[in-house]
Amino acid sequence: MNAIYLDHAATTPIHPAVVERMTEILTSHYGNPSSIHSYGRKARQLLDQSRRVCADSIGANEKEIIFTSGGTEADNLAILGTAFANKEKGRHIITTKIEHHATLHTAQYLERNGYEVTYLDVTENGTIDLEELKRNLSDQTILVSIMMVNNETGVIQPMKQIGEILSNHGAYFHTDAVQGYGLLEIDVNELQVDLLSVSSHKINGPKGLGFLYAREDVAIQSLQFGGEQERKRRAGTENVAGIVGFETAIQLADSERAEKINLYQKFRAIFIDTLKEHHIDFTVNGDKAERVPNIINLSFPNMNVEKLLTNFDLSGVAASSGSACTAGSVEPSHVLTAMYEADHPCTTNSIRFSFGLANNEENVKEAAERVAAIIQRLSK
Ligand SMILES: Cc1ncc(COP(=O)(O)O)c(C=O)c1O
Repeated sequence: MNAIYLDHAATTPIHPAVVERMTEILTSHYGNPSSIHSYGRKARQLLDQSRRVCADSIGANEKEIIFTSGGTEADNLAILGTAFANKEKGRHIITTKIEHHATLHTAQYLERNGYEVTYLDVTENGTIDLEELKRNLSDQTILVSIMMVNNETGVIQPMKQIGEILSNHGAYFHTDAVQGYGLLEIDVNELQVDLLSVSSHKINGPKGLGFLYAREDVAIQSLQFGGEQERKRRAGTENVAGIVGFETAIQLADSERAEKINLYQKFRAIFIDTLKEHHIDFTVNGDKAERVPNIINLSFPNMNVEKLLTNFDLSGVAASSGSACTAGSVEPSHVLTAMYEADHPCTTNSIRFSFGLANNEENVKEAAERVAAIIQRLSK
């Protein structure tokens, strides 16, 4: 039985054009961008060009882009880097209960080290309450970190309104844009964000690569010691081939954005309609309107997430619960727990399906047929 990949929110297949470009760089341009000879200068040129593309993609300038090893490092650098550099101004940070662990665990580390962190609740729709954000801001708040798109539900937070609220406050605004970047048009000035994290492998680029946008006037402390790369904000020789591959992925995402949005909306409709045709009992988790089209999170009443995922996998369908799997058992989702309540059935019977490059109308339909057959069998 052919396998069907519906887990693009976990990672995406690398685009063939990215592989081609990376292979060219790996084989022909291996210089160190910090070297002053011709090999180094060529690598520097490539790096500068990629940095420009990254900056242009979010309306920033090149000096504001710091290449990292991915979204996790970008989140760590944004949160720890600003917390350490601004500790004299205050030690209070605001984030949400539904962040990726790259943010949550970093915030928890700060709590263990003398900072105070407020974790905002979300409604059943998966969005924060702006009034709760306002209420929690104080003169001690140095950073507000709120993700753009949730990786489990695909729900988009009200970025613009958050930026407006914070424009009258001294706290920096960081957003983890890992799941929004590529599909949503992002302008850091319009959104009034000071720091923004991006990951390459979510947009058909190579793994182990990302960038942090940090507005020029943001005080940030480097977390690594070594050379003076990335304007002394991130030591270590840059992954030039990976970065150039990432640049290609960004250009493709930019040029194909509208087409992809349409396509993923179609995939989503095919998937949901097929389940309905088979009279499958399910509900959609998260806001119906404010969402990216490539992620759907469905709750199947009276089902169990481990059983579902095992059966989907046996039938060749790769999906995810979106939350961590420890010692063979899937923990209740912290995102769905925040949206509903602890022990709510949705936290243990929900599956995330996410579409992308590995899909077409036929395999999405086929995957939904297999999912429907499994649910029907398990319901008996
Ligand atoms: C919202 C979000 N933030 C951060 C990350 C981490 O990114 P990376 O895998 O590049 O470290 C992910 C990856 O799943 C994510 O979905």
